[in-house]
Amino acid sequence: MAWIFFLRLTALAAAATLTLPCLAQKRQSGLEFLTPQLLAMQVDADRNPATLWIEQGREQWRGQCQSCHADESAMDAATRFPVISGQGRLINLEDQINVCRQRIGQTAVSTEDAQTLALSAWLHSKAKGRPIQVEPPSAEASQPWNEALAKGAAQYTQRIGRMNLACVHCHDGKVGKNLRAEVISPAHPTGFPVYRLSWQTLGSIDRRLRACYSGVQASVPASGSAELRQLELFLKVRANGMPLDGPSVRR
Ligand code: HEC
Ligand code: HEC
Repeated sequence: MAWIFFLRLTALAAAATLTLPCLAQKRQSGLEFLTPQLLAMQVDADRNPATLWIEQGREQWRGQCQSCHADESAMDAATRFPVISGQGRLINLEDQINVCRQRIGQTAVSTEDAQTLALSAWLHSKAKGRPIQVEPPSAEASQPWNEALAKGAAQYTQRIGRMNLACVHCHDGKVGKNLRAEVISPAHPTGFPVYRLSWQTLGSIDRRLRACYSGVQASVPASGSAELRQLELFLKVRANGMPLDGPSVRR
């Protein structure tokens, strides 16, 4: 089933078609794979470590960003990224935050920078409950978008690393199975950024994807690389319509 979906998705992307097939399989958020203890931490704002990050993000937002983005309730950008930027580059939400941070005179920073992550946590919390809506852009940007999507889909099925496994082998083929004390989820990107207890901090989707590369002993793409953006685009399109439920806690 999943294979058929990927082949069709790739074919559709290549044909620049704007519609995507529905997934026949049930789509589950990573939250459904948390232990009862982690889930209790997730739903209790007082115990959820992400709450602190959201509050820091809100403070920054009100001090530095609101002058240009007056309507805070309209900030649903987290549902729509990654997008093709005005410069023709595929960027995700953390990249956009960094573009704007440079606008106000802050120096270029990585997507793992604490202030960028706090702003990302805040913006994701504003979009919580809203469905992922990553759509093809109009006219001139549609070609790079379709190419990026096709590359992301290809990477998802490409065997990598010393374990010679592709994303699809774990995240479609082994959903619900245990792997080193974790339960494998379908890798729907609804919960980012995530506070992982094993990291003792908040991390972006880049950091999580890098951990999966390193888990199969493959060479790890750099944070912010085109490869990670293409994969994120593919994962988001695959999860279109699912509500965002991050920031969230992970093992
Ligand atoms: C000087 C004005 C200005 C400031 C200050 C500013 N932005 Fe922006 N922002 C923009 C513009 C213009 C865009 C449209 C996209 C672009 O040109 O980058 C944008 C787009 C965005 C988007 C995408 C919105 C969407 O709906 O697609 C996000 C998210 C964002 N900014 C976050 C921030 C954050 C976080 C800060 C504070 C660190 C900030 N911005 C500060 C001008 C600003
Ligand atoms: C050997 C199995 C394995 C492979 C191969 C693998 N992962 Fe993972 N991945 C995991 C495990 C285990 C977790 C943590 C539990 C979970 O959420 O699935 C995880 C977590 C994730 C998550 C976070 C899900 C969440 O809700 O927190 C994403 C996204 C993800 N992987 C994407 C990928 C992508 C993209 C690839 C291919 C580059 C990949 N993974 C390859 C095992 C794997």
